[in-house]
Amino acid sequence: QKVKCYDWNVEYMYWKPDCVESLVMGINGNFPGPTITAKAGDTILVNLTNKLHTEGVVIHWHGIRQLETPWADGTAAISQCAINPGDTFLYNFTVDKAGTYFYHGHYGMQRSAGLYGSLNVDVADGSILINGKGQFGCSLGGEFITKCSQDIDEQCQPEVFNIQPKKKYRVRIASTTSLASLSFSIGHHTMTLVEADGNYVQQVEVDSLNIYSGDTYSVLIETNQDPSTNYWISAYQIARKPPLPLRPGLTILNYKTNPVLDAPSSSPLPSTPPVWNDFTGGKSLTPLPTPPVWNDFTGGKSFANKILALQSDQLTIPKPPTSFDRRIVLLNTQNNNNGYIRWSINNVSLVLPTTPLLGSLKYGLQNGLDSEKPDEDFPSNYDITKPPVNPNSKYGSSVYKFDYGITIDVIIQNANVLKPDTSEVHPWHLHGHDFWVLGYGEGRFSSDDESSNLNLKNPPLRNNVVVFPHGWTAIRFVTDNPGVWPFHCHIEPHLHMGMGVVFAEAVNRIKRVPSGVLECGLTAKTILEDSITS
Ligand code: C2O
Ligand code: CU
Repeated sequence: QKVKCYDWNVEYMYWKPDCVESLVMGINGNFPGPTITAKAGDTILVNLTNKLHTEGVVIHWHGIRQLETPWADGTAAISQCAINPGDTFLYNFTVDKAGTYFYHGHYGMQRSAGLYGSLNVDVADGSILINGKGQFGCSLGGEFITKCSQDIDEQCQPEVFNIQPKKKYRVRIASTTSLASLSFSIGHHTMTLVEADGNYVQQVEVDSLNIYSGDTYSVLIETNQDPSTNYWISAYQIARKPPLPLRPGLTILNYKTNPVLDAPSSSPLPSTPPVWNDFTGGKSLTPLPTPPVWNDFTGGKSFANKILALQSDQLTIPKPPTSFDRRIVLLNTQNNNNGYIRWSINNVSLVLPTTPLLGSLKYGLQNGLDSEKPDEDFPSNYDITKPPVNPNSKYGSSVYKFDYGITIDVIIQNANVLKPDTSEVHPWHLHGHDFWVLGYGEGRFSSDDESSNLNLKNPPLRNNVVVFPHGWTAIRFVTDNPGVWPFHCHIEPHLHMGMGVVFAEAVNRIKRVPSGVLECGLTAKTILEDSITS
């Protein structure tokens, strides 16, 4: 087990991710940020300096549970004070479990601004490989595949993945998208899904993956196709109507034996005049994969239901407790609050206080959050198939308090938005935990669903899960990780517009918070007094 140290500067810089020069947030002069590669059990130290001139910054390690280090979760106003311009903050945490993760800004809309990168944790030396199939290479972040345009520029050229024929590769995919859901496929190559959100799943062969913001996956591919040609790796927008003409994110899978694209220096792009999707200049490449139907939710659901926990001789994903202690139903609505479009959960639109909730809760600062408890259900006469009768909602901090060691069920209930006959997809992400996905269903969750539509046998463990239009998703987890954890829609503008809640879990068990984490707002003073008196 190693300690891996990084020194990062976050700054704005000009970049052309889609061939149009714009200001993006980069790390050490690069976009996306550097890839962290570690082994399970390693300690990660990231010394982060904020070189932005006028705004604070934090980085969240998406999918890392932060066991015993809830203050290193990197959420502004929840787990820590935002790092001020010119200041440095040390993230110090352990990556306890192998898997595919990523990191991103968690303050305002900094993920959309480009603040993200990959975080890959490999199995510790000597531990189990998936059915003995080792030697996986080829790391690929979902963020790389959203590049396509007609101009030619190094910063926006499609990535070329050079691979050897007759081998097995592991492709890691992380969806850092702001809004879009994607259908991902590798032309002519069947993918075997093996991991979702850092947990092994029952192996299943698929031609495409539906990936929602915040999802991570690993697939295995066999490079067993005609090596004299090259293949497209594509990502098309789904779940919300894509603009026409379709412009999928594209990447090239290049067999190394194929000389056409072999030399990394030889551009796979044509010179002028460009056709926007002719990256090959007429060279050998198979046709573009056929676009998916963007609103094929039936297909989306059948894909979601294929993801089940791995239960093999070598490795079995733990099963959930057979019953729950407490159930919370979260109604997702779109609201119109005096002309502002907001998203709300049980009629509260999330607004974070200035003092980090971890501090207010730990030190019992009553003024740091709402005194009123958020609702655990919604009125039985609410019709989820219609626009809200009363489009208003309240603002608040929506903190649900949990005792240690209990089993929580959360039913995320989708509803119709302000526009009639419309409901959107929402990928929900929980910090500090993996949860079991017990099931998905249509309409309003009912007692029939309770008895017949929940899977307690082999539900997958995940940290991110989609809620389909006009449907519900049920999850279960055990409160065994003291901390203050956001649970929110991973679509960044939705979170920004209030779509989230906070789970305060066994806060009395949180150990001593390191200095530098909570020195702002009401906690600045408390901590000062604390250190004088102790
Ligand atoms: Cu990747 Cu709270 O998010
Ligand atoms: Cu959403």
